[in-house]
Amino acid sequence: MTDARFGRAIRSAWLLDPDVVFLNNGSFGATPIEVLEVQHEWQRRFEREPLEFVGRHLHDELRSAAQAMAAFMSCRGEDVVFVENATTGINAVLRSIAPLLRPGDRLLTTSHVYNAVRQAMRYIAWLTGAEYVEVPVPFPIASSEEVVERVSAVLTDRTRFAVFDHVTSPTGLIFPVEQLVRLCKERGVWVMIDGAHAPGMVPLDLESLGADWYTGNFHKWLFAPKGCAFLWTAPERQPITHPVVISHGYGGGYLAEFDFTGTKDWSAYLSAPAGLAFLQRLGFERARQYNRTLALHAQSVLAEALAIEPPAPPEMIAYLAAVPLAGRGRTLDDAQRIHDWLFDEHRIEVPVFAFDGMLVLRTASQVYNEADEYDYLADVLARWNLAD
Ligand SMILES: Cc1ncc(COP(=O)(O)O)c(C=O)c1O
Repeated sequence: MTDARFGRAIRSAWLLDPDVVFLNNGSFGATPIEVLEVQHEWQRRFEREPLEFVGRHLHDELRSAAQAMAAFMSCRGEDVVFVENATTGINAVLRSIAPLLRPGDRLLTTSHVYNAVRQAMRYIAWLTGAEYVEVPVPFPIASSEEVVERVSAVLTDRTRFAVFDHVTSPTGLIFPVEQLVRLCKERGVWVMIDGAHAPGMVPLDLESLGADWYTGNFHKWLFAPKGCAFLWTAPERQPITHPVVISHGYGGGYLAEFDFTGTKDWSAYLSAPAGLAFLQRLGFERARQYNRTLALHAQSVLAEALAIEPPAPPEMIAYLAAVPLAGRGRTLDDAQRIHDWLFDEHRIEVPVFAFDGMLVLRTASQVYNEADEYDYLADVLARWNLAD
């Protein structure tokens, strides 16, 4: 919390509104101005001579950007393709496996799943006659072992495919993905990791993780422009893995199929290395230490303000800190009302989710945040708590 280079000292590197206490880097990320400028330069390069750009340069530039990102994630560039967002990465894999599913096969995830992923899995279950299974995992939670035990108890020989979050969305927990992947591999279950929040937040070693598929966003925590994410596919799964949009490359292999899915603005993908360079200049370890310290501070002051125990152990926390808002409602409307009150009355941008019959408020910590922003939120919540 005492790194003089971060917090307010660095905030002018973003376009963020100085009048808002912005504690929601988690939803869409925040792109530094210098990365937006790199993106605009890519757009200008394209517009100067579109045919020349797409015909002669796009392929090599995309591959070189993928290679740079792969090096950061300890995997091979040829296993990494760009997609617009993690939702697209998940949908590509679900649609790819759909023809291989039989009625009664099980598609499994946990109750912490991101709702869009839940919906995509439900859709594929409906399409194929497979069964959608959501393993209840508690929150508050005492240890990551609980996740492994709950999942292990529900895997059967009918489980065909599982998706686990690397960092969960409503509850901000680091899940033990290494153990979950191992469990699935032992039981012959295809496993995909939804790392929407992971790049830039937790160190990645995709090669040794050994999942079948891994998708993640560069736009959330890796400073890339919006619409910049990736799909990593194990070489043995690449022949069955196709993009959501089929184009010229069909039948030409994994890279040919994903690298061109119709005309679009490729500038966000091509600017991913600039986002990574920004992080590396800050120092990944230094940023991690700062953000994680802030998140643990947030968890502690919010728990105190709400008079509850911290709902998750420190080893499950990275940059997101979620706390239950007991007795404050349970529906999406209740969540929206509290969000709007915090924003309209106190200029605090922080998400509130409906999760498992309760409301959960989740802070995010990025290098432009300061400890006193969480103190301010905690103070507002403490007064709210006492007001009842
Ligand atoms: C766990 C998880 N999966 C998927 C997504 C979807 O990300 P995107 O909107 O970039 O597709 C999110 C977004 O917050 C998420 O938290």
